[in-house]
Amino acid sequence: MISIDVNTASGGYPVYIGENLISSTVLWQRHLQRRPAFIVSNEVVAPHYLQHLLQALDGEPCGQLILPDGEQHKTTGIWRLIIDRLVQANATRDTVIIALGGGVIGDLAGFAASTYMRGIDVIQVPTTLLAQVDASVGGKTAVNHQAGKNLIGAFHQPTAVIADINTLNTLNEREYGAGLAEVVKYGAIRDAAFFDWLDNNAKLLGSRIPDAVLQAVKASVEHKAAVVAADEKEKGQRALLNFGHSFAHALETITRYQSLLHGEAVSIGMVAAARLSRQLGLCDQHAEKRLIRLLSGLGLPVAIPAEIDRQDIVSAMRLDKKNLDQVRRLILLRGIGDAFIAENIREADITTALKAPEAA
Ligand code: NAD
Ligand code: GLY
Repeated sequence: MISIDVNTASGGYPVYIGENLISSTVLWQRHLQRRPAFIVSNEVVAPHYLQHLLQALDGEPCGQLILPDGEQHKTTGIWRLIIDRLVQANATRDTVIIALGGGVIGDLAGFAASTYMRGIDVIQVPTTLLAQVDASVGGKTAVNHQAGKNLIGAFHQPTAVIADINTLNTLNEREYGAGLAEVVKYGAIRDAAFFDWLDNNAKLLGSRIPDAVLQAVKASVEHKAAVVAADEKEKGQRALLNFGHSFAHALETITRYQSLLHGEAVSIGMVAAARLSRQLGLCDQHAEKRLIRLLSGLGLPVAIPAEIDRQDIVSAMRLDKKNLDQVRRLILLRGIGDAFIAENIREADITTALKAPEAA
């Protein structure tokens, strides 16, 4: 088992990464310390892992709530349901919420933990690759508003993250691949050596060889931990983690979250950002080509679907609620492993990049 410390202004916590960690009674005893646990999971994850968790806990939880599956349930209504169930279970400030699931469960349970009695503890048990390498670490919690994703939320750091890589074996190919896009992101924005390692180990990672998965999750969490420690509330460099995401959000909005998984949209978005960087003379063709080769080698899409009008992407980027008060700010590359926050990017340049052919 690997343990990585996340140190933020509002508190520190360990991220454990390893095999069969959900069943580790020692870990649960260490972090619950006989306090009552309230489990939040969903109807897809619970049949696989709830029993393992219940067996490892020292005694019965004070409550459990198995939610319907899917992003469409990341709502204030479901947040309210979690709060109601906590009240029914007589949860106190001592109660610890255990979030067992992917990023949707982590965000929902984390937001409930941040609001119940002005904040109770939450332990994140991420079961998707995306949640292990990104969503469970760093304390962002949220539910969606009809006007936009994650518009209602809070920063609320967990007291521990238990990332059991064995859970990834039941993930389907597309969901696993979507997580790999976020892994590639860390190499692209801040670690050229890790990017090389990914290049060399893409086959092993694609086949989910435990050693390779462990190394990839470890390196990703180390990067996330370092960024969050330096900038917990996203006043500065945490924005680098949004590499490719402005394009991705636009693609997700246009396709109404129906055809692309978030990680798939991020994959296409990172390539678009690399292309724009190249067009602006910030980085050479080589960086864009390497990104395309690695992402497509991992089975991820890299091209904007032909049926999407490029101008619609620019319009959607302009209307992105999170960008409303900002100048046109994007995360761009100087090269692999070297991203920066670029200000005042002109819409015309974005349009040109979106219409340009791939690096030859
Ligand atoms: P998800 O939680 O919807 O999980 C994807 C699918 O996999 C779901 O159907 C889920 O039930 C299923 N699943 C989960 N674990 C499984 C397992 N081990 N075996 C089989 N199936 C399993 O999606 P996600 O990609 O994990 O997370 C996306 C969400 O995370 C979005 O809501 C996004 O906004 C949020 N997010 C949050 C942060 C953050 O910092 N808080 C960062 C990135 C993304
Ligand atoms: N997923 C981006 C962040 O946590 O800031």
